Amino acid sequence: MENNTRGGDAPVKCELEANKNYAWCTCGHSENQPFCNGAHKTAKATTPLIFSVEEEKTAFLCTCKLTKNPPYCDGSHN
Ligand code: FES
Repeated sequence: MENNTRGGDAPVKCELEANKNYAWCTCGHSENQPFCNGAHKTAKATTPLIFSVEEEKTAFLCTCKLTKNPPYCDGSHN
């Protein structure tokens, strides 16, 4: 979407808890990357991706928003 932007140039390492809903920012405007802070509303950009994991894990979440495997970094920021 044209109102989206890069939220960063590198992924953020996150400790994800099992069975908890996370809202990954898809628009790049959040100042709380990689998570949504509601900024997409004023930016008129895309809404967050809600996701959860079945087991606790460490993950690198995308901030550039170019990943083909959201919410995970796939190296597209390079
Ligand atoms: S602030 Fe980017 S999806 Fe909500």
